[in-house]
Amino acid sequence: MIEQLATQIKNRLNGLRPETAIILGSGLGALGDEITDSVIIPYTEIEGFPASTVAGHKGRLICGKLEGKEILCMQGRLHLYEGHRPQSINDIITAFRLLGINRLIVTNAAGSLHKDMPAGSLMLIKDHINLNLPNPLTGPDDERFGPRFPDMSDAYCAAERTHVKKLAEKLNIKLFEGVYIMAFGPCFDTAAEIRAFQILGADAVGMSTIPEVICAVHCGMKVLGISVITNLGTGLRDGVQSHTETLAEADKAGQNLRQLIKAYLREI
Ligand code: HPA
Repeated sequence: MIEQLATQIKNRLNGLRPETAIILGSGLGALGDEITDSVIIPYTEIEGFPASTVAGHKGRLICGKLEGKEILCMQGRLHLYEGHRPQSINDIITAFRLLGINRLIVTNAAGSLHKDMPAGSLMLIKDHINLNLPNPLTGPDDERFGPRFPDMSDAYCAAERTHVKKLAEKLNIKLFEGVYIMAFGPCFDTAAEIRAFQILGADAVGMSTIPEVICAVHCGMKVLGISVITNLGTGLRDGVQSHTETLAEADKAGQNLRQLIKAYLREI
């Protein structure tokens, strides 16, 4: 399955050999449109690739050049709340590894757990809390790709974070750093859940990212994760949560994120 996915993608890449993959979160697809010399592969044209079903996620791979680097971009991700098998996420990330990808940049839209990290902020992910949600490595381990019990002590590579913090400073972009917690979704969190997440030590909450990061760490990729804060968590704000607001805020704050990712790509 993994080999079949990798072969199908490879056959469409026109000889491009990307070593970096980027997963674009809700409302953050615009970066994909800046890629040049690109090959676009809708997920529906790859046999065995699950369909993306959420508004704000185009559901296609774009491979091409950004800042002179060849990259493979998922414009639209898969969420567990869509009903995808967690193992499907492992198949995709491992197929990327087979294609030669050794670095994964994950982005997402997230709710803030602190009033002083408002909508529009960027948060570099330094660690995560998986809350015992379904793990994409469930099932027999294929030792060719990674160990049964992966170490997660440097999942969000500290050296890369130090580098990105310097880049943000140079670009005059305020970059928070914190812990991301994943809620299964698709409903937004209750106020009580938000208080619980704060007590657990999280700084931002979202419905994605952790499965992909677990898979990337398992197969030996370097990971960089950045959240775009689109709202304050339930109970920390007036008004109600909505996906429409998530998409609109992600689009606004996405400009800084794009600048930061491009600066990062220039230097790898
Ligand atoms: N909670 C969970 N996921 C989210 C949120 C939130 O407040 N905002 C964007 N994604």
